[in-house]
Amino acid sequence: MDLPIYFDYNASTPCLPEVVEAIVPYFTSSFGNASSIHHPYGWLAEEAVETAREQVATLIRAEANEIVFTSGATEALNLGIKGIAQMADPGKNHLITIATEHKAVLDTMESLVDRGFELTCLPVSAEGEISLDLLRSSFRENTLMVVAMMANNETGNLHPIKEMAALSKAHGALFLTDAVQAVGKVPVDVRDLGVDLLALSGHKMYAPKGVGALFIKKGLPKIQLKAQITGGGHERGRRSGTLNVPGIVGLGKAAEHCLDDLQEESHRLFNLKKELENGLLQIQGCRLNGSSHRLPHVCNVSFNGVSGKSLLIRVNKKFAVSSGAACSSISDKPSHVLTAMGLDQRTAMATLRLSLGRFTTAADVAFAIEYIREVIEDLRSI
Ligand SMILES: Cc1ncc(COP(=O)(O)O)c(C=O)c1O
Repeated sequence: MDLPIYFDYNASTPCLPEVVEAIVPYFTSSFGNASSIHHPYGWLAEEAVETAREQVATLIRAEANEIVFTSGATEALNLGIKGIAQMADPGKNHLITIATEHKAVLDTMESLVDRGFELTCLPVSAEGEISLDLLRSSFRENTLMVVAMMANNETGNLHPIKEMAALSKAHGALFLTDAVQAVGKVPVDVRDLGVDLLALSGHKMYAPKGVGALFIKKGLPKIQLKAQITGGGHERGRRSGTLNVPGIVGLGKAAEHCLDDLQEESHRLFNLKKELENGLLQIQGCRLNGSSHRLPHVCNVSFNGVSGKSLLIRVNKKFAVSSGAACSSISDKPSHVLTAMGLDQRTAMATLRLSLGRFTTAADVAFAIEYIREVIEDLRSI
């Protein structure tokens, strides 16, 4: 099959060759269970897991014992959100989040409303920005936790996490950030940010699918969190289940690589994205979605006067991109992120998210601009 050029790194990234190389022995020769404490197969697996824990912790400036491995960010967010809620003082039953969060957060928080929690979902500006004043005025005596993403998966908007975490602390609430799209792409320092919990995902940072992590700050006051998956008491009782050793090794290796060339790669991608945006904005009726403070590699644009479905079908012939539809490109509903920013249904549907990554070249970008221009002109002429 002739595959289109990949412009969907926010959906998933390929594994780096170094990551695959590091993983392979843990499928074959060193396949042991990390909990087998009586023989070298188990010791080797456990040692590899602990090395990966250090590597992931180093990437976000945490300590190794603050990292809990999970099956991905959706599970990490469920563990963080439900785990905290289930241990909370019954009087603390108010939660705050943002309208443009990922469904892994929104649906998880909604599920707590069914269990007696009150949820405040803050709106965003037309650029998708969060208002700190609005957050400040939303705290109540009984606010337990604020959950907000560090970078939006659709627009790439970067949010003021440090300020939001400080406000939460001042109001006696915990702060959890979904940093899935930010980790490995921009510097993330949990100490400097002052966050209590942070979720990340392997397949957004050149590691395999099916692995992720939750950072849980240690120290006082101690964060009380109830395990969501119970069983053998793995991960110090916070997440039971035999550890996915190859996945975890891959996550660790990817974390090491992301840290090594973070500055260089984000600079390269920023320049490519600027080129892409400048080119696309030359097309009549093209608008950029998002604020001026965005991830270096994400470009979200809408086009007027074209049908979203036709646009996506035509563009996807040559480029793998994501649309302005909710969650999946086959959805008929406009994205909740774009509609929260005030885009009308038609414009939201006529939107493309192009997310660049390690294997994107200047030639890919030049071709994308030309091709999308042709598609738009063609669709408008029909
Ligand atoms: C911002 C954000 N949060 C959470 C998730 C869920 O991550 P995972 O696929 O690891 O469950 C995603 C995946 O698209 C995401 O983009």
